[in-house]
Amino acid sequence: MTAPQSKITIIVGAQWGDEGKGKITDFFADQTDYVVRFHGGNNAGHTVNVDNQVFKLHLIPSGVLYPHPTSIIGNGVVVDPNALLEEIHYLEDRGIHPRLLISERAHVILPYHIAVDEGLTHYQGKLAAGSTKRGIAPVYADKMFRHGIRMADLLEPDVFREKLEKAFTFNRKLVTNVLGYSFNLSLDKIYTQYLDYGRQLKDYITDTSVVLYRAHREGKSILFEGAQGISLDVDHGIYPHTTSSNTVAGHIATGSGVSFRKIDRIVGVTKAYVSRVGISPFPSELPEEEATNLREKGQEYGTTTGRPRRVGWLDLVQLRQAVRVNGLTDIALTKLDVLTGFKELPVCTGYEVEGEILTEMPASLTKYRQAKPIYEILPGWDSIDEDVLDRGWEALPDNLKRYIRFIEDQSDCPVTIVSVGPQRHETLLRS
Ligand code: GDP
Ligand code: IMO
Ligand code: MG
Repeated sequence: MTAPQSKITIIVGAQWGDEGKGKITDFFADQTDYVVRFHGGNNAGHTVNVDNQVFKLHLIPSGVLYPHPTSIIGNGVVVDPNALLEEIHYLEDRGIHPRLLISERAHVILPYHIAVDEGLTHYQGKLAAGSTKRGIAPVYADKMFRHGIRMADLLEPDVFREKLEKAFTFNRKLVTNVLGYSFNLSLDKIYTQYLDYGRQLKDYITDTSVVLYRAHREGKSILFEGAQGISLDVDHGIYPHTTSSNTVAGHIATGSGVSFRKIDRIVGVTKAYVSRVGISPFPSELPEEEATNLREKGQEYGTTTGRPRRVGWLDLVQLRQAVRVNGLTDIALTKLDVLTGFKELPVCTGYEVEGEILTEMPASLTKYRQAKPIYEILPGWDSIDEDVLDRGWEALPDNLKRYIRFIEDQSDCPVTIVSVGPQRHETLLRS
């Protein structure tokens, strides 16, 4: 089955991340010339299964498993050069040679960012998000402080030294004086090491905004791959339990330098239930004694950190916000196979907060902490026919189609892509 065609397509997460963006990006990538990451870093973990081989990607876009698309790491991404080189080697060891370009404006994660991230999570305590400890918040903070290091700086030894001295000292003081941790990093070692990373990555580093602009004018197709999901967006998510970038579709313009005016299709990847790795209120969460079955069936363990994911029922309050803020044209609904066998499927349609019914996500943390899910109970299905991939949408169980129609009615967005297994070919288009 081939994906629908458009010149610019955006794939974003419509929940708390780990919805299956990697799988859906790979599905579209077959028909695409450029696949672009536009925010986040190696906090992301995107899985693609091809012929029973599992690929876990963190920084390189999930189109890389096809030979033809060019993979682009846009300026809005934060790059840990060591992690990136490891990922390139990981792919090369499997016979894949990425056609990769990295924005010269992308900010660089340095060892002191990871040190700050450790201390910060501890310091923030109950208000932390439970970060992936990849240095994400500190690197974006340094970008906004305007003493961040960019990929281009790694190619200019003098400017790099000048900037590194400022940023290093600032972060050393932050770790020791504010967070109260010891700090054993050496400026000289980092300087030498990162100049070396620059030398190794030099051929990939370029002005990717110009590359994409020219490609678009020549009629090439571009696919944007989001990381994380709406509830982790630093503006629209459940702040402060978020990541530190904007995960929404609108961010492609700032995160890649491609104008938002040109977009044809925005796909929100939505798991048929919800998972969350990290800390925040989670109204439709299953209590731990009931969570195991769903977690095991869905193999809900973090792709990046291996942490067990918290799991719960589909939350339409969250999905409504994802449709509205991203301007979704399509929902790709994944992991429907995992729900097979549940007699009843509760779906959260609203929150009750002290007698008030909320149908949109509250900004108030107090309300979010108090939110109790209001469920509509839908009937489940016993099995999905084995030949469903040949026979398509019509062959899906009636109650599964009913589940999908309920989601469409409540979210006001069509479900056009349905995923019933982790393998590349286990994807159906709505006819
Ligand atoms: P991402 O971060 O959004 O790319 O998602 P992850 O890769 O972190 O997590 C999604 C997991 O679900 C991966 O292990 C995928 O292989 C798997 N997956 C994706 N779609 C399906 C599906 O339809 N059914 C099942 N059973 N697994 C799926
Ligand atoms: P993908 O792209 C799920 C979560 C972390 C934490 C919060 C902040 O695979 O969907 P950070 O390290 O970004 O400062 O952590 O965000 N988080 C994710 N959860 N999927 C992800 O990415 C995530 N990236 C970050 O667990 O709660
Ligand atoms: Mg993931």
